[in-house]
Amino acid sequence: MSAVIEPRKPAGSEPLVVAHDLARTFDVSPPWLNRVLERKPRVLLHAVDGVSFSIERGKTLALVGESGCGKSTVARLLVGLYAPTRGGLQFDGQDAHAAFKTAEGRKLRRRIQMIFQDPYASLNPRWIVEDIIGEPLREHGILSGKAELRERVGELLKSVGLSPLDMSKYPHQFSGGQRQRISIARALATEPEFLVCDEPTSALDVSVQAQVLNIMKDLQRQRGLTYLFISHNLAVVRHVADQVGVMYLGRLVEVADKQKLFAKPQHPYTRMLLDAIPQMKHTGRSRTPVQGEVPNPLNPPTGCAFHPRCPHANARCSAERPQLLSIKGVQVACHAVEEDRI
Ligand SMILES: Nc1ncnc2c1ncn2[C@@H]1O[C@H](COP(=O)(O)OP(=O)(O)O)[C@@H](O)[C@H]1O
Ligand code: SF4
Ligand SMILES: [Mg+2]
Repeated sequence: MSAVIEPRKPAGSEPLVVAHDLARTFDVSPPWLNRVLERKPRVLLHAVDGVSFSIERGKTLALVGESGCGKSTVARLLVGLYAPTRGGLQFDGQDAHAAFKTAEGRKLRRRIQMIFQDPYASLNPRWIVEDIIGEPLREHGILSGKAELRERVGELLKSVGLSPLDMSKYPHQFSGGQRQRISIARALATEPEFLVCDEPTSALDVSVQAQVLNIMKDLQRQRGLTYLFISHNLAVVRHVADQVGVMYLGRLVEVADKQKLFAKPQHPYTRMLLDAIPQMKHTGRSRTPVQGEVPNPLNPPTGCAFHPRCPHANARCSAERPQLLSIKGVQVACHAVEEDRI
């Protein structure tokens, strides 16, 4: 039996992915007995706290921010590995989290795939590549005959620049970059439309990163893929994104077209991240390493979560949380930008 792939809607129609006020808390309370004996309260960690965005078909939204900002939690919410505590996700016009729970969910999972940071951890070391890439084809009942399956696995390997002969090897016989290509081939097996890529090249050497990013861009063009691309590295984002969302402590602080964001960053946090990129000579600014650290999400600062690190903070900033507003053609959550004082 071969797969029936529904025709894709052209780019330019309604967004494929719409996240609305997505939030996820984790209960990190001490064990029940300690709570009772030591009278400790329940502790909730707000990993993602009201994130909204949309992604057009065939386009890439990149999420950036330092470690601990909630990027991976957003990724896991989008592919249904986590249920949201609040808010929701529309995928191609349907409520994805409602669908994930029903029989429809299987179909939806075929259309949304994820690529993880660490290709060592995400590939089963005891399986040969044929089984690793073939598994989703079998699991979703797309192909079952051995010959058909091998042919399809061979095609998938070729599509990521590997050889069909590689299918009889084990993951440890490949380099890091090749292993990440195998992960991509596996993610493509179900012919997904949306790929959530969580730091897909962060574990790789710089030279290898560029190769993998180029393969991902080629695949996007050939297949009309839509990407959510997560990275802590703005230099990487510059290479792949159409739009960029900057996250800080579980919230989006700026969302803008890539060109605008790099040419005229608005939020002080975005400026700080950009100033830390070494090779951005054309900005005319000298490189300044990122100052300070992300606060503990269990004890977030009042008002604007960035205020303890912000050179423009004032009394309003420590008292009132800025909302994400459309200002100067971008979305930005900052009182100083709103007041036009920076
Ligand atoms: N399963 C979990 N249980 C408890 N806390 C979590 C869990 N997953 C993430 N967190 C916390 O949520 C915050 C955001 O984490 P994460 O989404 O991994 O951020 P990032 O990918 O940007 O580094 C961090 O403070 C992290 O410790
Ligand atoms: S709201 Fe205030 S503290 Fe927050 S980024 Fe803007 S100026 Fe800085
Ligand atoms: Mg992460």
